[in-house]
Amino acid sequence: MIISKKMQDSLNEQVVHELHSHNAYLAIAGFIDSLGLKVLSRRFFEQADEERTHALKIINFIMDVGATVAVGAIPTTTNKFKTVEEAVEASLKQEERVTAQINNLMALAQKEKDYATASFLQWFIDEQVEEIASMSDLLSLIRRAGPANILLVEDRILREESDKHPT
Ligand SMILES: [Fe+2]
Ligand SMILES: [Fe+2]
Repeated sequence: MIISKKMQDSLNEQVVHELHSHNAYLAIAGFIDSLGLKVLSRRFFEQADEERTHALKIINFIMDVGATVAVGAIPTTTNKFKTVEEAVEASLKQEERVTAQINNLMALAQKEKDYATASFLQWFIDEQVEEIASMSDLLSLIRRAGPANILLVEDRILREESDKHPT
């Protein structure tokens, strides 16, 4: 194995964090669906898929460097939300937490002169910039629309999606 035991354990911990995010987004998607907001709900289901992909990416790296995969217990996630705004605020907080976790991993890699892991982690550093930006944008959109006009948020997301994938 070309990474330290400490790095192996820390990467395995990050797998749990990503799977925790996956579950949290499923819960949020379900809550949003219960309000009849199908477009926004779909966005959170997609977000959940991405988190699972992140976990798999880390697992693949652990295997590639000859370290041992160990998937730990995933902490429980909240299913109780009062408003869409509250759920999206929780999402942004979660992304901020994950950003700090990734930064800590990068700091460890640099401290250990583990350039292979540092290079691997760079993708996650960049990804977190994107995730924070898009979640912050969504939160401001939801706040600007207000609860009475939440359907406008759905329209906006649909329009953005069709701009990205013109048919
Ligand atoms: Fe992630
Ligand atoms: Fe994320």
